[in-house]
Amino acid sequence: MQRVIRSLVLLLVIALGAAWAAAWFGRQPGEALGDAFLRHVAALTGRDAPPTTAAGLQLPTGVTLGGPFRMTNQDGRSVTQADFGGRLLVGYFGFTFCPDVCPTELGAIANAMDLLSPSEAERAMPLFVTIDPERDTPALIKSYVANFHPRMVGLTGTPEQVAEMARSFRVYYAKASRPEVSEYLMDHSSFIYLIGADGRVRSLLRAQSSPEDIAAAIRASLPRV
Ligand code: NI
Repeated sequence: MQRVIRSLVLLLVIALGAAWAAAWFGRQPGEALGDAFLRHVAALTGRDAPPTTAAGLQLPTGVTLGGPFRMTNQDGRSVTQADFGGRLLVGYFGFTFCPDVCPTELGAIANAMDLLSPSEAERAMPLFVTIDPERDTPALIKSYVANFHPRMVGLTGTPEQVAEMARSFRVYYAKASRPEVSEYLMDHSSFIYLIGADGRVRSLLRAQSSPEDIAAAIRASLPRV
């Protein structure tokens, strides 16, 4: 019996590994790695790729993203998922030097927050998480998030803490050096994560979702009053 379970676990590990490999090599042009992964997992389980609706992209059954984290906030204080008063976190991973994608997505999140009623907005918290801890100090993040929304919180940490949080949220990031400029850029996946009080992802939204769709997804995942 134990041998059967061990074989099943081994098979599952191989299947998920194959899904990552298939996602990596079988990405469609312009498709994010995370999107490709979800598509291949869906194919493995015999389901259609999860549709993006106004309520966000639902994770295939059995796939969990996120979890507990410990990071440093924009005031230099060590925080965990338990420090947000049970609010729904509307999270985005990026870096403050990002020329276009991050500002666009954080702007959309800020606009979505402003579409919520005051009592809805009170139960949600916009969150920026850097994947560039080398440059993104708490002070830099503090002035950065203030550009977008007065309630936006920013997180950084040691390179290890950032790597661990990115791993549990399946965020891809890598330094991209360009010989013609001295400042490096970061390649990174681009999703909006709706994160519950336990740190787990409730649903996610693709980049370039409209503020209206983001607001609808937030409402669908808000904790009850
Ligand atoms: Ni970016």
